[in-house]
Amino acid sequence: MKKISPSLLSIEKEKRLDMTHTLLNMGIDWIHYDYMDAKFVENRAIEIKEIKEIKNNSQNHIMDIHIMAYEPKKIVEQVIGVVDYATVHYEVFKDQNELLDFVKEYQNKIKLGLSIKPNTDFLEVQNILKHFDLLLIMSVEPGKGGQTFIEHSLDKIKSARDFINKNNLDILIQVDGGINNFTASKCFNAGADVLVSGSYLTLEPSVQKLKNLLD
Ligand code: DX5
Ligand code: ZN
Repeated sequence: MKKISPSLLSIEKEKRLDMTHTLLNMGIDWIHYDYMDAKFVENRAIEIKEIKEIKNNSQNHIMDIHIMAYEPKKIVEQVIGVVDYATVHYEVFKDQNELLDFVKEYQNKIKLGLSIKPNTDFLEVQNILKHFDLLLIMSVEPGKGGQTFIEHSLDKIKSARDFINKNNLDILIQVDGGINNFTASKCFNAGADVLVSGSYLTLEPSVQKLKNLLD
C-alpha cells in the first residue's frame, strides 16, 4: 500500500474542518488525528470532540488517532465507533503484560496501532506486533510539527518490513514526522505503507505536493 495520511496538527483549530474538505477533495482518503495530553508530550492538539465534529461534517475517510498520552485507555474508550484506528505509544505501558491486557480489552472493538518513538528499538516490539493492525514508526520526537526527519528511522522501517513479510503479518507500517518530497520516497522504498504529512502538505496544500509525496 502507498498512502498519504495528512495530519491537521499545524492547522489552526478554526481552519481544520475546511482543510479536511480541501484534502479530501484532492483525493486524500485517510487523515491522521494527533491527540496530546500535555504530559507525555508538552503540547495539546486535537480534542476528541473536534474529531467527532470533523467526522460528522465531512465525507467518509479512514481516520486514525495518534494518542500521545499516558492514559491511552481513557482516550480509546471515547473513540470506539468514531475512528478506524487507535494508536497508542509503547513507551507509556509499564511492561508488555500491561500492553497485552490493553490489547485483549480493545482488539475486538477497534483496530489497534502501536507507536514507537525514535529511541525505541524495533526489536523491543517485534514479538508483540502480531496483536496490532498498524505499527507507527515516529521519525521525529512526538510533540510538534515541522521537525527534521531522523534518518535512522529508515533502518527501523526496513527491519519492520522484513519482519512483517517473513512472518506473513497483516499489519500496516505508518511513518510520522518530517515527511516531505525528499523523505517520502525513502520511506516508501524502505517498506512503509502510510506516511503522515503535516507541515509539508497542509500549510500550503496542492495536488502537485501530494504527487511529489507519492512519486
Ligand atoms: C508530531 C505529530 C505529527 C506531526 C507531523 O508529534 O505526531 O503527526 O503533525 O508533522 P510534520 O509532518 O510537520 O513533521
Ligand atoms: Zn502524529
